[in-house]
Amino acid sequence: MSQGLNVKPAAGKLGILTPGMGAVASTFIAGVIASRKGLRLPIGSVTQLGHIRLGKRTDNHQPLIKNFVPLTELADIEFGGWDIFEDSVYEAAVKCGVLPKDLLDEIKDELSAIKPMKAVFDNYYVKKLDGTHVKHGANKMELAEQLMADMKAFKEAKGCDRLVMVWCGSTEIYLKPSAVHQTIEAFEEGLRNNDPAIAPSMIYAYAAIKMGIPYANGAPNLSADFPALEDLSRETGSPTMGKDFKTGQTLMKTILAPGFKARMLGMSGWFSTNILGNRDGEVLDDPESFKTKEESKLSVLDTILQPELYPDLYGDLYHKVRINYYPPRGDNKEGWDNIDIFGWMGMPMQIKIDFLCRDSILAAPIVLDLALFLDLAKRAGMSGIQEWLSFYLKSPVTPAGLQPEHDLFIQQKKMKNTLRWMMGEELITHLGREYYEDVSQDDR
Ligand SMILES: NC(=O)c1ccc[n+]([C@@H]2O[C@H](COP(=O)([O-])OP(=O)(O)OC[C@H]3O[C@@H](n4cnc5c(N)ncnc54)[C@H](O)[C@@H]3O)[C@@H](O)[C@H]2O)c1
Repeated sequence: MSQGLNVKPAAGKLGILTPGMGAVASTFIAGVIASRKGLRLPIGSVTQLGHIRLGKRTDNHQPLIKNFVPLTELADIEFGGWDIFEDSVYEAAVKCGVLPKDLLDEIKDELSAIKPMKAVFDNYYVKKLDGTHVKHGANKMELAEQLMADMKAFKEAKGCDRLVMVWCGSTEIYLKPSAVHQTIEAFEEGLRNNDPAIAPSMIYAYAAIKMGIPYANGAPNLSADFPALEDLSRETGSPTMGKDFKTGQTLMKTILAPGFKARMLGMSGWFSTNILGNRDGEVLDDPESFKTKEESKLSVLDTILQPELYPDLYGDLYHKVRINYYPPRGDNKEGWDNIDIFGWMGMPMQIKIDFLCRDSILAAPIVLDLALFLDLAKRAGMSGIQEWLSFYLKSPVTPAGLQPEHDLFIQQKKMKNTLRWMMGEELITHLGREYYEDVSQDDR
């Protein structure tokens, strides 16, 4: 058994800051407030409802995760954020129409009191949006400094001990890492020179990481996943991770594909299409924002199915993903999947999935879990990429040369074993030899 890490207790309050206070952020905040008042259960949250097995199966010891690792209590969370619109969280939640209005009205006072700070925004990076509630500065470094001042003021005003930032803003245009993203020096120079390769989400990420604050990116755009900010996160002791909340269709893909592969069933095609009508859908109607999303959604199947290892089964797979903006649906997305598989003697079969899902209902618990786990990682002295949180993401990030894991079940085992390792508990391999009396002690 390892010694475990020296994890500091979750004393005092945690401020969770979200750049972007639209559907996902308002559903997350309203849900946490409703849960702590006992109005609803935080369903979908592993930190709140999940158990973890410790020791042998026969020990029957399976505490709640939140009682096993020191996590911040829901009662000790303060909420804040930024948006280009001035709507309070109550107004944003009512407009998005994700949670029922009667529930929102029960917590109206708390939600109305949470108002966004002025955003760092540039319509060049999100073509479909424009807003007036924005900051101005001589250059991008000055904007980053204004964000840092916001965070200090928030921390003081709310009496928080610690902060975490989770990007819940719109998907920005597709950008690839360039020279400015390679070193901390080049990036800081780029901030001072208003380099166009630095998008607003990167300015938020820089501000948080520079202050040693953990940073998560819920969207697929390039934000903190490049060498300059990865180096900075190790230097300042800030945990970071991959990106793009794994909800809806991609969640389904990473549940189903490992099953087909486990049974050595072949696949010739996977066609996915969606209709959705929320603001996210409108933003993704812009081809440049969609390209960012498409890259993120397409990558999962290849790494799960390993066509290079199984060319007969997956070598000719045609994978296509479409998103269609269709306003009548609002946040209630419909995702269709047609999967063409083949079995014994190459005989073809089809599977059709029609997932009538609710995007923000699936994303909100991820915001909570990521914020609480990143804060835990920070208190455990873990900095840089937290690959064990890939469970929640469409685009996990790994060190150069290392393939990410997309299989949800491998990701879950990795996450739970990381928690056991942090706390000095034995890792669970599922070998199970210890349950058979004829196995000698030496063989175990
Ligand atoms: N809901 C899901 O299932 C899901 C899954 C994966 C990823 N995401 C991503 O999460 C993000 C949020 O989704 P949503 O449904 O809440 O979208 P939304 O449009 O309702 O909210 C996004 C908010 O971000 C604000 N914003 C945009 N740029 C900003 C900036 N620079 N600074 C501050 N605020 C800014 C917008 O004004 C808007 O209010 C999107 O990028 C989406 O792609 C959502």
